[in-house]
Amino acid sequence: MPLVNTTEMFKKAYEGGYAIGAFNVNNMEIIQGITEAAKELNAPLILQVSAGARKYANQTYLRKLVEAALEETGLPIALHLDHGDSFELCKSCIDGGFSSVMIDGSHLSFEENIALTAKVVEYAHPRGITVEGELGRLAGIEDAVNVSAEDASYTNPAQVQEFVEKTNVDSLAIAIGTSHGAYKFKPGQKPQLRFDILEEVSKRLPGFPIVLHGASSVPQNFVKIINENGGKMPDAIGIPEDMLRQAARMAVCKINIDSDLRLAMTASIRQHFVEHPDHFDPRQYLAPGRAAIKELVKHKIVDVLGCDGKA
Ligand code: G3H
Ligand code: 13P
Ligand code: ZN
Repeated sequence: MPLVNTTEMFKKAYEGGYAIGAFNVNNMEIIQGITEAAKELNAPLILQVSAGARKYANQTYLRKLVEAALEETGLPIALHLDHGDSFELCKSCIDGGFSSVMIDGSHLSFEENIALTAKVVEYAHPRGITVEGELGRLAGIEDAVNVSAEDASYTNPAQVQEFVEKTNVDSLAIAIGTSHGAYKFKPGQKPQLRFDILEEVSKRLPGFPIVLHGASSVPQNFVKIINENGGKMPDAIGIPEDMLRQAARMAVCKINIDSDLRLAMTASIRQHFVEHPDHFDPRQYLAPGRAAIKELVKHKIVDVLGCDGKA
């Protein structure tokens, strides 16, 4: 099966009250861990590549690895550009074989965001590629850009209809209190998601797929393992998984997860080195790293996204 765009998967997810996991990929072991989990559970997948991932691994290597995963699994998989920040970057991914792109104009004025997003859509749609836009601004770190809590802003529901009508985007990322990275809330802080905004947005855009970025839950067992095995991660908590499940039952059709993959892999590799200080063959520590990713993704598919059996 060739790569798919997100149209069909979002339609089914919206109607079925579940979400598709959009997992960030940077190397072979991460791709294998995610896709082995999805294959076992017969789940559709979005594998997404950030500008940083392109720089690290090279877009062609990642695309070829995802093509190998398609061949191995037979699953519907979309290869998506995460946080594209220019028309040129989106064009390069479309020309390079991606099936979906995000144009993130959330840092621009409303009018500039519309103009840039519409330009990407005009290039993408005739080529069968779906486009995700963003309105509102998440806090946190993404591609070395650190958005402070003061500069973050919730999505204004009054703007969403005009944005979607004028751009013709296929899905919309909104800011309702999630944030990027592994340090979302301090311990003791109460994580809150603005379900009222999500509700209002979906009223104004009936049937339209909404995207949640910054949706890692920062599992405390991984932070503990990392810190017990020589790591120095500050205490922090993420988005409670029951809130994500609730969002997936509503209009949210795509949930982005990157930080939890990093924590799972790092915890497992740190533990491995403490238990096996003599190991120096990368396969000895990357195999448990890959297995940890697989376990985490199985948990997300079943308990958070609800997309098992939906491929
Ligand atoms: O939202 C950003 C993703 O977590 C990607 O992170 O830019 O460090 O690859 P990255
Ligand atoms: P997390 O940092 O919460 O995993 O968010 C990832 C993301 O939104 C990628 O676009
Ligand atoms: Zn993001």
